[in-house]
Amino acid sequence: MAIDIKSVDEALMTTRAVRRRLDLERPVDQQILLDCIDIAEQAPSGGNQGSRRWIIVRDQRTKDRLAEIYMEAAGKWMIEAHNKIEGTGHPQEKVMASAAHLATHLAQCQAIVFPTIIGVHDGSGRPGLFDSVIQSVWSFCVALRARGLGTAWTTAILARQNELTDLLGIPDDVTPIAMLPVGWMKGSSVKLAPRLPAREITYIDGFARTWERGPSESPSVADGPGCVAEADIKASPEIVWQFVTDINFGSDHSPEFTGARWADGAGGPSLGAKFFGSNKHDAIGEWEVPCFVNQFEPERRFGWITSDVDNPGAQWWFELDRIAGATRLRYRLILGPGPSGLTAAIERMPDKEARIIAGRIGEHRANMQSVVDAIKVAAEDATPKVKKSGTQAPLAPPYQP
Ligand SMILES: Cc1cc2nc3c(=O)[nH]c(=O)nc-3n(C[C@H](O)[C@H](O)[C@H](O)COP(=O)(O)O)c2cc1C
Repeated sequence: MAIDIKSVDEALMTTRAVRRRLDLERPVDQQILLDCIDIAEQAPSGGNQGSRRWIIVRDQRTKDRLAEIYMEAAGKWMIEAHNKIEGTGHPQEKVMASAAHLATHLAQCQAIVFPTIIGVHDGSGRPGLFDSVIQSVWSFCVALRARGLGTAWTTAILARQNELTDLLGIPDDVTPIAMLPVGWMKGSSVKLAPRLPAREITYIDGFARTWERGPSESPSVADGPGCVAEADIKASPEIVWQFVTDINFGSDHSPEFTGARWADGAGGPSLGAKFFGSNKHDAIGEWEVPCFVNQFEPERRFGWITSDVDNPGAQWWFELDRIAGATRLRYRLILGPGPSGLTAAIERMPDKEARIIAGRIGEHRANMQSVVDAIKVAAEDATPKVKKSGTQAPLAPPYQP
């Protein structure tokens, strides 16, 4: 049978965490759950050994007890966090409202499904245990979605694993993986989730190496080669922002970048502001490059292009994302499309363009990672001394939904 790609893609892209839209009233037939488990069991497993075992909880007293355990494990905290940030515009406001709703209504769900696997994770790194269950459970979620049902992948209850295994009689040598509250889904529209595009998080032929296009068979600057350096920093975006927008900060931490100065009248970081960056490199010598701030979103993005606004030699930028209790800092570079320090070398040895690019990207990436790591140290050092901003403060969870 030919696969209907559109439907499959649609099911894969719209299988969301369903909590507030779980229909608590409409009965869910047992057979539909078993059908979805049959589908899920077609997933691969290490050694082709089917070691997954599934528990469907229907009994009301058991569901009541599960709801109590979940409430103690994380539900209380989720409800408190929801009450605290409701109406504040906090980035986690929606997810927390949804998580709190589930914590309050878990016992009323039509069915609660626990995928388990025979074995105990020993940290050996061997495939075959958790690696042999996640893909199957996700197939179960997608199969439910395709039939108009919904669920949410939850794990908070595992913080109380002993109470859970006692309640369900799960033996010591079997590991519960997740808790999936199941119900018919109210409404059918589902929005796509904001996610980073594949090109930004997919590296080609080496970690952290990106390409804007292609790369073509003979990779060139026209393909937009680039790289990324990242760190999770235990500091708020407002603190990290101070270091990111200090154009001189990197000079103490990069072997190549020696300093920067704002152009006359620039007056500091703002959109369109000009500064000059100075660099030195054994093979290239010493040079100064004009830079133009082209990305400026406070506490979110700070970036600049070099040499020529209309035909930049490179684009550099920082992205700050608030994640649980921290800021994820990404420092990104794309070379070209205009001429840069590489151009002379490529013109001298056009047949070596791909190697020249690869070498230069490797140098840049190492320098950028040094800068990011230094920002991490500085921002984390500065954190206790600076007051956190009220409603935007990261939530410090016992469990992050
Ligand atoms: C490993 C894992 C654990 C999770 N644990 C919980 C949980 O305990 N409680 C909860 O309400 N949601 C939990 N979630 C659901 C996430 O909050 C949810 O997937 C996320 O907010 C993204 O929403 P989306 O799936 O609709 O894109 C978990 C998700 C994953 C992948």
